[in-house]
Amino acid sequence: MEENWFVEAVDIRHAYGDEPSVDGVSFRIAKGEVYGLLGPNGAGKTTLIRILNTLLPPHAGDALIGGRSVRKDPASVRAQIGVCPQNLAIYEDLTGVENLVFFGRMSGLSGSAARAAADEFLGLVGLSERGRDRTRSYSGGMKRRLNLAIALVARPDLVLLDEPTVGVDPQSRNRIFDTVEALNQQGMTVVYTTHYMEEADRLCDRIMIMDRGRIVGEGTPRDLKEPLGDPAEVTLEDVFLSLTGRNLRD
Ligand SMILES: Nc1ncnc2c1ncn2[C@@H]1O[C@H](COP(=O)(O)OP(=O)(O)O)[C@@H](O)[C@H]1O
Ligand SMILES: [Mg+2]
Repeated sequence: MEENWFVEAVDIRHAYGDEPSVDGVSFRIAKGEVYGLLGPNGAGKTTLIRILNTLLPPHAGDALIGGRSVRKDPASVRAQIGVCPQNLAIYEDLTGVENLVFFGRMSGLSGSAARAAADEFLGLVGLSERGRDRTRSYSGGMKRRLNLAIALVARPDLVLLDEPTVGVDPQSRNRIFDTVEALNQQGMTVVYTTHYMEEADRLCDRIMIMDRGRIVGEGTPRDLKEPLGDPAEVTLEDVFLSLTGRNLRD
């Protein structure tokens, strides 16, 4: 099968100290896919996302995004991606609209395009009515939804979402899902990091399961479930526990 790979990562390695945090990871993501990144705490998911978004250079290996190398051409990589970081990255002294206009402008939108996109994406994440308020007054779920809108506002080809639903209520979580699904239907490629299994099962075309910096499983949810029994009965949680074990991680 001819595939149109949008992300091609080969043997990525990184260590903050002596212990590797990403230990020889290779994968490919097709244009238009929703690709899940699952793993226990400390698996290396955020490190891998930081390498893909050019915040952290890999110690070995490389990733091509739209054919551009994160090592050699980070500016071209950044121009194609939107990032929703695990730790909120919003300005609390600015309103929701001002945050979106600011990040839209940073991504190269003109002033009028940024203002139009700000209104559109505020609506998409259900924040139109609070868009003129400073984000300091937002609830946790509202901040998460804005954090997502910021990643999307310039309509990047690829969006990297690092635990976008952590600690939010079910309504915010559903709105985040619906937003990701809507943008994906318009052709955006998505990398979705989570440790909520049912989210990954619902959203992702394919999933990589990481543990201790390595890939321990990869495939469609169905592919991953099949070795354990009837895919209609097996959950992704069963797969996850069988691949990563039951020991708690911190
Ligand atoms: N800034 C850092 N300095 C030192 N070690 C780090 C740093 N960030 C992460 N680590 C370590 O790297 C490993 C992978 O962490 P991380 O990529 O955050 O995993 P995940 O996102 O899957 O929870 C962990 O062992 C973590 O303690
Ligand atoms: Mg993380």
